[in-house]
Amino acid sequence: MSLEPVELYRDKRHICLMFSDLIEEDGAAVQANQFLIVDGDTGAIIDPGGNLAFNELFMGMTKYFAPNKLSYLIASHADPDIIASLDRWMTSTRAQLVISRIWERFAPHFTKVGKTENRVIGVPDQGAHLPLGQSQLHILPAHFMHAEGNFHFYDPISKILFSGDLGVSMMSGTEARSPVTDLLPHIARMEGFHKRYMVSNKILRLWTRMARQLDVAMIVPQHGAPIMGQQAIQDFYNWLDGLSCGIDLFDERNYQLPSGRIDPIARQYIA
Ligand SMILES: [Fe+2]
Ligand SMILES: [Fe+2]
Repeated sequence: MSLEPVELYRDKRHICLMFSDLIEEDGAAVQANQFLIVDGDTGAIIDPGGNLAFNELFMGMTKYFAPNKLSYLIASHADPDIIASLDRWMTSTRAQLVISRIWERFAPHFTKVGKTENRVIGVPDQGAHLPLGQSQLHILPAHFMHAEGNFHFYDPISKILFSGDLGVSMMSGTEARSPVTDLLPHIARMEGFHKRYMVSNKILRLWTRMARQLDVAMIVPQHGAPIMGQQAIQDFYNWLDGLSCGIDLFDERNYQLPSGRIDPIARQYIA
């Protein structure tokens, strides 16, 4: 386990850090990445994660600027591994929450009463450009990948595309620190997740058509390793274009009245 973040990008005033290893390796929670983007004396946290990651991420941030300088908590969607720590961030900083308009009124359920008052920026479905320090982040539509209101974030300075649950691979936090430059051997670690969590091939193809217009140096998902370099990124787009997933694979067999039972003592499903 390493608490030191991976430096994805750095120049004089702009830094992108990935924290990949803030959760117990053999714990029950899935490995997750959290991101800190620093621009001058301010910054944003992308997909801050659950309570497990809060302390280390907060400490990591204070090496770059004071907590009251944090501009945003940016959430790709509203899952527990994305913003379950919202209450603590809202208490410890003055940051605004940036989240899909369709989750805007659900997010306050993560916090104590009043914590989110006048601090939520609801992003419309079409996405937007969001100023950050002297730079800006592009909030890109990524709906149904996998949440109904879902965004990805493109940083034009680092050319990093933060892709939430798209491009996710299942591995340890230590492994997640090394970017993947050869996609083929990596597909086995992405396939199961994408087939079940992505909604349909139609959506994937609409997304790749949009993403191909961007100059991307690295695609960085919220679980597992970054995908780096032109070849691997093109191969990733091509793989998505041909992937059947979600409702493409579901038929009447998936909607039968259940016959198995759950043993609550063993916490197991018995067919
Ligand atoms: Fe998710
Ligand atoms: Fe996730």
